[in-house]
Amino acid sequence: MDYIRGGNYGIVFIEGEIWKERRKFAMQVFRNFGMGRGLMEEKVESEIELNPIPIIERTIANAINQMLFGFAFHSESQNEEYRILKTSLTTFLSLGASPSVVFGLNFPKIVPKLPYFKQQMNAFRGSYWEMRNYFEKIITEHKNEFKNRKEDSEAEDYVEAYLQEASKTSSSNFTDLINILIDLWGAGQETTANTCIFSLLYVLNNPKVQEKIHAELDSVIGSDRMVTLADKNSLIYVNAFINEVQRSVNLLPQNLFHKTTKDTKIGEFFIPKNTTIIPQISMVLLDENIFPEPEKFKPERFIEKNGNLKKFDELIPFSLGKRQCLGEALARMQIYLFVTNFYNQFKISSVDPKCPPSLKKNPGIAIQPTQFTCNIKKRFA
Ligand code: HEM
Repeated sequence: MDYIRGGNYGIVFIEGEIWKERRKFAMQVFRNFGMGRGLMEEKVESEIELNPIPIIERTIANAINQMLFGFAFHSESQNEEYRILKTSLTTFLSLGASPSVVFGLNFPKIVPKLPYFKQQMNAFRGSYWEMRNYFEKIITEHKNEFKNRKEDSEAEDYVEAYLQEASKTSSSNFTDLINILIDLWGAGQETTANTCIFSLLYVLNNPKVQEKIHAELDSVIGSDRMVTLADKNSLIYVNAFINEVQRSVNLLPQNLFHKTTKDTKIGEFFIPKNTTIIPQISMVLLDENIFPEPEKFKPERFIEKNGNLKKFDELIPFSLGKRQCLGEALARMQIYLFVTNFYNQFKISSVDPKCPPSLKKNPGIAIQPTQFTCNIKKRFA
């Protein structure tokens, strides 16, 4: 990681006190900026539009951008910035999961000098620096504005909150803002966007599911008004649908690397302290003892006989434990608001009903959908 990140690792690739403090601070700021509350709801809701993949990606990017940097990409010049940033992130995440780059990162003194690996590692590093340069520019702009603001004025975004805290804290952990931003921006986008995109793909491959979603929305919402978090408990089938999308898409099949902090015994296996382990979320999400016929898309498995939503401790798309996803609440809210409002407003269908778009899961740190087109029809005039 030194090879790419210059010795500073943001949030995802660090541990101990420094990780604890940075994670706590990020969660606190996310909460203050409306994670789970109306403010973010408006930000998400105002973005829903028609054309699937680029619009979904942009919607999610704008929500996280707004929270981290205080603005969404709207103007011509911002469009170009978004395009460059998005391309860099996609390259960074897809190469970051490729065997050649993982190999290169493990042997940074030799592998990046070898012919094929050199080109791969350069592309990987280039994409990181592209993001880094952009975030550096944003931090500088914030610092300039920060000088002109009153000391006790309330922070309007994550960067400002961080700069405020850094200026008054005695902690030495408030450094490395760029890598923290790369982690939050990167972790917060493709994950949520690809889950929303797969929600369309599962519907296109299971048209009856959409009929049930619409039936519930028509009976509970009954108009083209915005669906909000206040409606959540009444939308049982839609919640079950979202659970089934998250279970089926199994977005981070490989999960992040962890290590044992002490000698550990699991069943008959002894794992010494400091062993690298990769908890496999798929083993749980696709366990046929818990989710019978796991390869089938069945939202009903999340509904009790009495019609209530059925809870499964095993539904763990965000992983478990101290390192479980920092953005879980934000992601859950975005997915819920996207799915409910999208299906309330629109009906989708395959261009060729006999041949719906592919559900193929392309590899990456997060699972990638295959590009597709579909018909989208407004439900209200
Ligand atoms: C559907 C959406 C998402 C899914 C399925 C997801 C899943 C995960 C998973 C499985 C992990 C690894 C947990 C572990 O190491 O055991 C993780 C970590 C993380 N996620 Fe997410 N995530 C999503 C959205 C987000 C969002 C919106 C953010 C916020 C910006 C975010 C930020 C992070 C961060 C910073 C970590 C590292 C936490 C740490 O190391 O302490 N994620 N996520």
